[in-house]
Amino acid sequence: MKYPKSKYLIVLILLFAKFNLSSQSSSPGYTAFRPGEIWKDNEGNHINAHGGGILFKDGIYYWYGEHKGKSSLARVGITVYSSEDLYNWKNEGVALSVAKDPDSEITSGSVMERPKVVYNKKTDKYVMWFHLELKDQGYAAARTGIAISDSPLGPFTYLKSYRPNSKQWPQNFKEDWKETAKNGDPEEWWTPKWRKALKEGMFVRRDFENGQMSRDMTVYMDKDDTAYHITSSEENQTLHISKLTDDYLDFTGEWVRMQPGGQNEAPAIFEKDGYCYMITSGLTGWAPNAARSFRAKSIMGPWEKLGNPAVGENADKTFFSQSTFVLPVQGKEDSFIFMADRWKPKNHINGRYIWLPIEWENEKPIIRWKKEWDLSSF
Ligand code: GAL
Repeated sequence: MKYPKSKYLIVLILLFAKFNLSSQSSSPGYTAFRPGEIWKDNEGNHINAHGGGILFKDGIYYWYGEHKGKSSLARVGITVYSSEDLYNWKNEGVALSVAKDPDSEITSGSVMERPKVVYNKKTDKYVMWFHLELKDQGYAAARTGIAISDSPLGPFTYLKSYRPNSKQWPQNFKEDWKETAKNGDPEEWWTPKWRKALKEGMFVRRDFENGQMSRDMTVYMDKDDTAYHITSSEENQTLHISKLTDDYLDFTGEWVRMQPGGQNEAPAIFEKDGYCYMITSGLTGWAPNAARSFRAKSIMGPWEKLGNPAVGENADKTFFSQSTFVLPVQGKEDSFIFMADRWKPKNHINGRYIWLPIEWENEKPIIRWKKEWDLSSF
């Protein structure tokens, strides 16, 4: 029996409708931020980009972060999401993939944390820096890794990793700290003698030949397109701020120590009214602690302490989160979003994102908890 033509038409219409529906994104259509809640991407999955950082390029924000499963080891790599409005994010896949080669430094099972991407105008390349720990070595390697791409979406190609600044003394180091004192450096940790030796560069001397340790880190590009690498070094006791080369692929040897013995990690930097600001956390692993903030006329210091920027209930735990980045909102002058991670170490994939607007009081950045907010609050 022949079907009448109209039946063919109905089948065609139904097929078209089905195809059209499935090709459409299931974007949740967010119009506000809800810190700490599940944040779905265009495919309906909780965004998987922890310890992240954001690059803005040609009208699009790119969010790079750590892909996490149940554990925090790198099994996939660094993910990238894109957005035009900061509320709704499209999953753009893996920007830097773990390597299949078991001998690669970024093989599956390594640790790849806190990726930050900067665009280099001169070379027209996207440069990614991240904290790298080698497979099966816990956090002992303490290296910073670098990858490069022609496109913000990747694929990024892994170049190499460093223990930075080998054979270079910091600029703010006293001449007589370059030699170990006669009686040697103390071995027992946390004694007053040890604290003094730490401040006077004991670990810098120890790692002078082979390069300084590098764990929690960020990369910051200033208004003159100079890029800096900021990292938790000296057994996580001291931050190191280093100027990168013009292509952002190497260290220049110009570097300073910040807050020796201050135990800062998770650094995030931004600039306002001629000052550089930095927000960091203390040192309690995945567990939250009170954030800190600092200000300096130049990124190379000296830095002045401003105290905990978080205020109100749970400020002593930074609203159960740890800083990762401060995002300047495009088209809104002096508007910054504090980006932080609420880690879930029992099931890392469930880690939440705490984004809050930065307010100002007496030239100090202030962060208040908000259950829900949007960009009109700037
Ligand atoms: C945190 C750090 C995280 C991760 C974790 C591992 O202090 O900020 O990025 O390295 O320790 O315990």
